[in-house]
Amino acid sequence: MDRYAVIGNPISHSKSPRIHGLFAAQTGQTLVYEALLGPLDAFAATVQAFRAVGGRGLNVTVPFKLEAFDLADHHTPRARAAGAVNTLAFGSDGILGDNTDGAGILRDITINQGCPVEGRRVLLLGAGGAARGTVLPLLEAAPATLVIANRTASKAAELAEEFSSAGMTPPLGCGFAELAGQRFDVIINATSASLSDAAPDLPVGLYAPGSLAYDMMYGRGDTPFLRAARAQGAAHLCDGLGMLVEQAAESFQLWRGVRPETAPVLAQLRASL
Ligand code: ATR
Repeated sequence: MDRYAVIGNPISHSKSPRIHGLFAAQTGQTLVYEALLGPLDAFAATVQAFRAVGGRGLNVTVPFKLEAFDLADHHTPRARAAGAVNTLAFGSDGILGDNTDGAGILRDITINQGCPVEGRRVLLLGAGGAARGTVLPLLEAAPATLVIANRTASKAAELAEEFSSAGMTPPLGCGFAELAGQRFDVIINATSASLSDAAPDLPVGLYAPGSLAYDMMYGRGDTPFLRAARAQGAAHLCDGLGMLVEQAAESFQLWRGVRPETAPVLAQLRASL
């Protein structure tokens, strides 16, 4: 039977085996999908061992996305833009590295939330790996403006600069204070502030009428960022559970050539949070 897995450290909390199991059942695909604990000092060896016993592909999560990038023999353009890999596919011509995170969040925002990005003002908070993976898919969706803001302003400026010649309206990079007086239609939290139960320290008044606040993190109830967004008058709130399911669907399609329906899977996951 074709074998797949998610590799990370820690990994026991991962919802990916459940998601892919539901996708496989729904699409009638015969496969096994496991969770693999990657030793911190032996990522590449663990991947190669999995491949040697018949593994066809892997999802890669914290903290191995950069190592997965280095391990891949060739990359999709979106993986190159992200500088990180969350999906490996083992083929006869080597290991392909892809990154489905950015496509996942774009699908969740535009399709599941019904929130257009084209022609709208978008603010991306953060300048780490999670933010980086989202920049190219966001630019491809043709927003009127993309501003990248980070607690450490210089990192936002550097990230914006990297995408200044992507052939689309270049993003702007700045610190949080410089956002004062601006308004956005979509504000995405790609910082890790929620991990310390905090929200980014933003100026007030950033949410335009009808705006969407999107947190890449998820949990039962509002995240700190979504609580703050609600208080600031954001019209729509969304956490990152849909992104998780959509990036998985994108990986599943890469491996199996079939796109699963995400809505029923997302509903099941939501019900058991
Ligand atoms: P990830 O891979 O999840 O993006 P990362 O690369 O460590 O993780 O990046 C974490 C991001 O969250 C950074 O943009 C960080 O801001 P700094 O560059 O200023 O460190 C941001 N971040 C973390 N905690 C934050 C907080 N309490 N408020 C605002 N931003 C925060």
